[in-house]
This record gives sequence, structure tokens and C-alpha cells, in this order.
Amino acid sequence: MCGIIGAASSRNVGKLLIQGLHKMEYRGYDSAGIALHQKDHVTRLRALGKVQALEDLMIEHKPKSKLGIAHTRWATHGKPSEANAHPHASSEQIYIVHNGIIENYKELTKKLKDSGYQFASQTDSELIAHLIHHHYKNNDLLCAMQLAIKELEGAYAIAAVDLNHKDQLVIARYKSPLLIGVGIEENFAASDPLALAQLTSDFVFLEDGDTAVVKKDSYEIFDAKSKSVNREVTHLDIETSSVTKGEFSHFMEKEIFEQPQSASNTLESRLGSNDVLDNIFGLGSSEIFSETKRIQFVACGTSLHAGKVGRFWFEEIAGIPCYVDFASEYRYRNPLVEDGTLFVTISQSGETADTLAALRYAKDKDYLSTLSICNVPTSSLARESDHVLFTNAGPEIGVASTKAFTTQLVSLLLLSMSIAKSQDKNPIMREAITKELKDLPAAINASLDTKTAIQKITPAIAEKNNALFLGRGIFFPIVQEGALKLKEISYIHAEAYPAGELKHGPLALVDDSIPIVALSPENDLTEKLISNLEEVKARGGTLYVFGEGQDQFTIDSGSYIGMPKCNKFIAPIIYTIPLQILAYYVACHRGTDLDQPRNLAKSVTVESVSYTHLTLPTKA
Ligand code: M6R
Repeated sequence: MCGIIGAASSRNVGKLLIQGLHKMEYRGYDSAGIALHQKDHVTRLRALGKVQALEDLMIEHKPKSKLGIAHTRWATHGKPSEANAHPHASSEQIYIVHNGIIENYKELTKKLKDSGYQFASQTDSELIAHLIHHHYKNNDLLCAMQLAIKELEGAYAIAAVDLNHKDQLVIARYKSPLLIGVGIEENFAASDPLALAQLTSDFVFLEDGDTAVVKKDSYEIFDAKSKSVNREVTHLDIETSSVTKGEFSHFMEKEIFEQPQSASNTLESRLGSNDVLDNIFGLGSSEIFSETKRIQFVACGTSLHAGKVGRFWFEEIAGIPCYVDFASEYRYRNPLVEDGTLFVTISQSGETADTLAALRYAKDKDYLSTLSICNVPTSSLARESDHVLFTNAGPEIGVASTKAFTTQLVSLLLLSMSIAKSQDKNPIMREAITKELKDLPAAINASLDTKTAIQKITPAIAEKNNALFLGRGIFFPIVQEGALKLKEISYIHAEAYPAGELKHGPLALVDDSIPIVALSPENDLTEKLISNLEEVKARGGTLYVFGEGQDQFTIDSGSYIGMPKCNKFIAPIIYTIPLQILAYYVACHRGTDLDQPRNLAKSVTVESVSYTHLTLPTKA
């Protein structure tokens, strides 16, 4: 994880680097740091906690410089501390920032220690500075970087400066995102174009194995064989308004209320009058879809829940079976790939390490093709998949995923319709879904009106430490998503169950101290769900039910919140909204840092956190 940024300019870069770090706090916010070149020395400032702490230090010290690198960290190797914050230095000569994980860090650290280097941190990143220093000869930072990365195993995006060059950054990429931002009399490097949105609209995306020298008026890129190469410049207009909170108190609140618009963006140019349009997943996708016999979904967290919802639609609309797997588990078994299986990844960021690794693993298997549903067009996942559908949700900054999830659901409906269309299945159903999708933005708007009723029930839920979420059928993954939202931003332990499972164990938890949130839309399972809820009532449970027109259902303890009437296929999307609102207001009530909840980061670009520095008790 982590976000890195660098700048070479004819103006002072300190403020620009800090602004860029703020935009990348979604990548981690355990500590932040900056190194600024100042002719005869490099000033390094580092602070524990969010970028604001570093900005306060900058205001105090006011360093001026036209060349610098900076970093916001999500701790993997070594706890969050000032010593473990980047940039890391070697002999006050080489300064680096790094995003990724160095897998062979133990061997390299030992080798460097044996040749006299002293380590000041517990990170796997510091060795990169020493390794570059070790290879640094004839003032050639690029050559030192190219020799150093040959020894690294793992994933990295690195930016380095050295004392002898006040005008250049040297950068390197392998399996972690890195791009150059091309400006006028200034050039930049960053993990995400969002970090540079106010500085340029022209970006060059590095490929695995690339290194580059970045100066204020030029840049040169070298491939894995150190041969100078041209990489295409991509023009991207990143709306800066979408990275500010506007009238809202939190990004999450803004993103919840943006959902009528984001859903309409997902649908734009993808629906005809009665059906989904052809080839919205790219040229040639219709042919692949006509041969698709089953789907393998792989994703993490909220995106995984989207896949679980999608399974119901693919079975009903496209008539094909689906498997849904945690990306973090998928490649550690030996999946048997049946003929005609389409491999589908779902990801907001397109940089989630587990999902990317699963895609790369799947490429060696006999899948029909790979397809990704992704929100970030420039992401690794989008670039490495055969076919892509962009969800077009716009930047999602709140760590808790909201509009990304509902736009993934819309995209999955479009995918199941596209496959059905390519196989000539269910034309009447496709026409009905097209109509429902056209009404979707208005229906989301109506469900946002539950806000006032939800605000009334939040104090009672906010004072509890546990909650149970119940749903049935396609609404089970929706309550799983609701439970995830509540736990990640309010720190209340929440579990989701299909309501029919209650009697097989969890009913033992029910008393008047545990709030039970249930989704009860009008459908074939309504009666069964209501009888499950009666079981809860009989045990004195406090129920918070979101449903339509079940006036006959009375609640002794808790509340019934009426939902707008909505059609079958879009109902899971509509019922997601009140659960997001509920989690948001409960977290507000508890006063958590809900846009940046503890221990999390928006984009999880590493596979796992290392516990190398944890001291385990030894056997007596
Ligand atoms: O960017 P991705 O969709 O691949 O991210 C996957 C998960 O890390 C993400 O959905 C996470 O579960 C969210 N924070 C949940 O709100």
C-alpha cells in the first residue's frame, strides 16, 4: 500500500507534494514524510499519523526546494512510528520512498549489514536506499537504481533523489502503480493520477521493470533491459470537484448521496430502448459471451459482495452457473477450470494486490477469457484484463465503499444481460430489466429519503457493541455488505446471516441487548422471512426492519422503516442504500474517523501484513 509522489519543478514543490499526499491518504495514513533537495543537503521531515501532521511540520520549518519526494504510509513491515516513516536515507546521500513489499528483504538486509550499512528502521523499504547507495558510482543514480532493482523480489514503486543532483528524480516500477505527470516546466511522479489532478492532465504510465529519470523539462524512460523507450501519454481530465467534500461533512456522506448520479453514469451509452447495447465490454466481447458456459468471480471485501449478488442474476437472467471466491484464497487452492469459464474480477481500485495476483494466476489456467469490472480506468487490473467495463462512479475517497458497490451491481446486471443477449436467452426479461434500470436513479433518490427515519434509530444502535443483520436470497449478500459497513466505520461487531439459518445457532445470541437489522422486501421469500423475524420477536429481540407494505408486521421493540416500492431486479441496489446510511449515522454518533477508519486503507496493494517484528513467546 502507501502513496508516493515526487516533483522536479522551477517553483517550490513542498506545498504541491503535500497536496498530492492528501489526495492519496486513501492508500494509507499511518505516517507521512518528505525529502527536499536544498543544494548542499537534503531536508527530511517525517511525522506519525496523517498527512496533516507533516503539513504542520512544513509550516513550522518552511523548507524551500524545487526537487522533492514524499510518502504516505500504511504500515506493513514495522509498526507506525517516525523512524519507520519514509523517506528512508542512506549515508545522507540517497533518499527513497517506496510503495510495495520486498519479499527477499531478510537476505538483502543481512548482506547490507555485513557490508557495514546501519539500519535505522524496521521496514523492508530502508534496504532499498542502502542498496542504491551500494551501487552508486560516478554520480550515476539511474544506473545505481537499475542495478539495485535487479536484486529486489516482490513489488515496488520507488522514487529516489541523491545529494549530488539537485535537478532529477529517478523512479522505478514493478507490480506497484507508478506514473509520470507531464507539466510545463515541471514534471512529477506519483502512485495515482489523482494526486496530480490539480497540476496536469497528461500522464505516462510506467510498465513493470521500467525505470525513468524525471527532470523539470524532460523525462526519459528505460525498459527492463535498460533500453530507452517511448511510452504513450494519456490525457485524463480528473474532475477536481470530485476530490473535495463540498457541502457534506464526510466523503462517505457525499458518496452515498451521489449514487443517483453515479448509477446513471454507469448506464450512460450502455442501454438501448429495450436491451443492453452490443460490445459494451469491448470489441469481440459478444463472441466470448456467446461461448460462456459459467463464470468464476474473484474479488475482495465489498467487491466480493457484489459478485455474490451477481451470482443470483447470472443464474436467473443468463442461465449459467457462477462460482464466487475470495481473491485472497483463490490462488492457494488448485481451482478446476471447466470448459467455457469466463474469469471475472471486480474491484473499485483495480490495484488490490489479492485480486491482481488472482488474475495473473488465472492467466495460466484454461479460462475462456478474463474480464474486469473496475472503477479506475488507468488501473493495473483494467490494463491486464482482456475485457473491461468501467463503472464510471468517479473517485471514491471514503474508505468504506458505497457508490463503487452500487455501480458494480449495475455493471453486473449489464454483464448478465449481455451474456443472455449473446446466447439469445430471456428477451422479455431483458426488456423488463432495461426499463427497471432506466428508473434506477429516481428509485435510489427515493430510498435516500429514509435518512430522517434512520437518524432516529441510530442512537439506540450506536450504544451497542454487537449487531445482527438478516436477509434472504439475493438480500443475504446485501446484509453482509451492510454488516461490513457498520463494522468498518463504527467498530461495532456485526454479523450477517441468511434469516433461515438463525435457528441453527445464532438464535442463541438473541436477547433485548442485540439490535437485529433485517431487509424485508416484497418477494417470494417475504412470508418465510417474516416467520423468521417472529422467532426473533418471541425471544425479545429488538428489530429494525426495512421493508415494503408489510403493514401486518408489528414490532414490539425496535422500528419498521418503510421503503419505496421497487421492482425485483433493482431491489438489491435500492435496499443497499439505507444500510449505508445507517452505518454512516451510527459512526457519526460514535465519533469515529469514518472516512479513514483505524487500521484500514482505501486501496490494499499488498498481499499481507508481516509480523516479522512481533516477538513471540518462546517455549519454557
Ligand atoms: O478496490 P477493491 O474494490 O478491489 O477493494 C476491495 C476491498 O478492499 C474493499 O471493497 C473494502 O472491503 C472496502 N473498504 C469495504 O468498504
